[in-house]
Amino acid sequence: MNVKIIFLGPPGVGKGTQAKEAAAANGVPHISTGDILRAEVDARSDLGTQAKSYMDKGELVPDGLVVEMVAHRLAQPDCSHGYLLDGFPRTMAQAAALEAKLAERGETIDRVLYFSAPDEVLIRRLSGRRTCPNCKAGFHVETMPPKTEGVCDHCGAELIQRADDEPATIKNRLEVYTARTAELIDHYENAGNLTEIDSTGTVDAIADAASEALKT
Ligand code: AP5
Repeated sequence: MNVKIIFLGPPGVGKGTQAKEAAAANGVPHISTGDILRAEVDARSDLGTQAKSYMDKGELVPDGLVVEMVAHRLAQPDCSHGYLLDGFPRTMAQAAALEAKLAERGETIDRVLYFSAPDEVLIRRLSGRRTCPNCKAGFHVETMPPKTEGVCDHCGAELIQRADDEPATIKNRLEVYTARTAELIDHYENAGNLTEIDSTGTVDAIADAASEALKT
């Protein structure tokens, strides 16, 4: 299978939760720019050091840095038969850079899934999110609690709350999404490959809708 998929949507809508399984089901790597950037921050690399100040405030990391990082990732052998991009592109400039890169090889994005939910749902999901710093598994204190409070079900590490899931930063991330990312919905709708997925329901219901959309 050779399929290139974009998961688009606001912070906390559940893109990462859905992306892991959808990528596995389609036999392609899951490429989350947020995950790559957090790994760079943890490694204290030059990129991570530059990115951290933006991420801590809920601002977007500059396009030039992110585009170069993604180009490097997409050049890896595991992407030769497609990929699922989660959280990229996030600006029109990033979308243009991706399209230019694909056009060099006569390729295009096959499908864009736009996950949508109202702000109150997003705020509840982000505020209750807990993540494993070791194996990166995701939990939610209400909707997906670990078996033992505060402890990862998979590796036993102590769960953490992401620094950018603090209320003031969540508010800024939602504003940045509206100002800089939401216009990509029209962009891909006009390109004719966007499907909106109502993401207010359960993880399983959303996974079914996403899987159906990816069959077309
Ligand atoms: P990133 O990590 O990409 O953050 P985001 O887009 O804000 O998305 P999230 O990871 O917060 O949410 P999600 O939609 O994946 O939701 P999740 O599945 O975790 O980016 C972080 C930062 O990096 C950015 O702010 C920016 O600074 C930088 N960055 C990244 N990409 C960039 C780019 N391209 N350009 C520039 N800068 C970039 O779910 C959330 C919670 O809800 C979880 O607890 C989960 O368990 C729960 N949940 C999920 N689904 C459901 C459900 N159906 N019902 C109930 N609970 C649910």
